[in-house]
Amino acid sequence: MKGQNMAVLGIDFGTSNSAAGIVRDGEPYLIALETGQSTLPTAVFFDFEEKKMLIGGAAGTALLAGEEGRYMRALKSLLGAPLMREKRNLLGEKLDFIDIVARFLQRVKQQAEKATGERFDRALSGRPVRFHPDDARNAQAEVDLREAYTRAGFDDVTFMFEPEAAALANRSLLAEGDLGLIVDIGGGTSDFTLFRNRAEAIDILVSHGVRLGGTDFDRVLSIETVMPHLGRGSAIRHAFGDETHVAPATIFNDLATWQKIQFLYAPESRRLAKDLEKYAVEPEKFARLVSVLTDELGHDIAFAVEQGKIDANNDGAGDIDLKIVERGLVPSLSGETVVDLLEPLTQEMANAALATVAQAGIEPAGVTHLVFVGGSSLMNVTRESLQAVFPKAAAHHGSALTAIVDGLSLAAQTAFD
Ligand SMILES: Nc1ncnc2c1ncn2[C@@H]1O[C@H](COP(=O)(O)OP(=O)(O)OP(=O)(O)O)[C@@H](O)[C@H]1O
Ligand SMILES: [Mg+2]
Repeated sequence: MKGQNMAVLGIDFGTSNSAAGIVRDGEPYLIALETGQSTLPTAVFFDFEEKKMLIGGAAGTALLAGEEGRYMRALKSLLGAPLMREKRNLLGEKLDFIDIVARFLQRVKQQAEKATGERFDRALSGRPVRFHPDDARNAQAEVDLREAYTRAGFDDVTFMFEPEAAALANRSLLAEGDLGLIVDIGGGTSDFTLFRNRAEAIDILVSHGVRLGGTDFDRVLSIETVMPHLGRGSAIRHAFGDETHVAPATIFNDLATWQKIQFLYAPESRRLAKDLEKYAVEPEKFARLVSVLTDELGHDIAFAVEQGKIDANNDGAGDIDLKIVERGLVPSLSGETVVDLLEPLTQEMANAALATVAQAGIEPAGVTHLVFVGGSSLMNVTRESLQAVFPKAAAHHGSALTAIVDGLSLAAQTAFD
């Protein structure tokens, strides 16, 4: 065997999308992970018919085509939780979620090796500043992710905060001495890096993050605009007497949460839904809940909500297409509703940005540049909430989905020095 290969692969393992790259002639060179695409949905599908695991866009295609199998997205949000290490039977193998993340990362590694002809024994991986507000779970999340890289065949991995990578990739937007704040609003987390641009490098002053992102936008929109059609907030009769109570919220919250949907496809939740239907004042709503759990349509709903969110943001109005649940069920979603429902979350993001500069002892007015990256920075409500707290800063837009991998690619080669 040869000794350790020197090439280091930069990998952005995102909640919603992943990407990988290296540096060539001083510029980031991103790997085509799917035909022509430099980003790959962080999703897998265990196809029960074909008996194989599909990865990325192919996983979503199989799900939406109604193939029989198990779809999983937003696995990054599960890192650090004890269930990461619970084994389950999938296609005749006993796998835990670390194995599943590992197979995803292994695909990225293989694609990178095929595309470059190099071997990558080491990776520089991005990580959010905080995976989780709880310290122990936050630490465990990195342990879990490291183990996934090891099981994927990497000898070693080192981590860089995602917004710090974005700062490296976007420093040319700033003049020497300018003070920039990276605002990376992704699928699962919002991450901030305050940095000063220097002639040769950047000085990182503070990085900070919160567990809040576009999947939380989807969750709130789904809870408020879709779940009422499935019985959320609706009355359930008691078995005896005339009294009623409101249907329990948990099942609806889980159905609206990308990383929790798969766990609802179990006999207990189906039984609960049927019981609710039996005693409901409006059984037709709970009949929809029963069919969503029976036919496993939770992710189809999540995709419809995500698309409705993006359309409402772009066009001022969108539809949430739930025809797969019931003919003619297409609740509309106005741009104003999106703003009203999401503003409490974007305010929290803005507060986290303020906390970032406060940690550095700097007044908000001292920030000269805001650099927006991450898919959820494309939401107008996000940008407006953030710009409102830094009125003096010039706003720039980095490449929403590739700024982090660009920075990781630039930093990869020297990451182990
Ligand atoms: N055009 C768009 N308008 C609004 N939101 C969008 C758009 N495109 C993608 N998004 C949202 O951006 C999010 C994904 O962003 P991104 O790919 O930056 O996240 P990620 O890197 O996978 O997640 P994280 O960094 O939090 O782990 C999703 O919630 C998606 O719905
Ligand atoms: Mg990201």
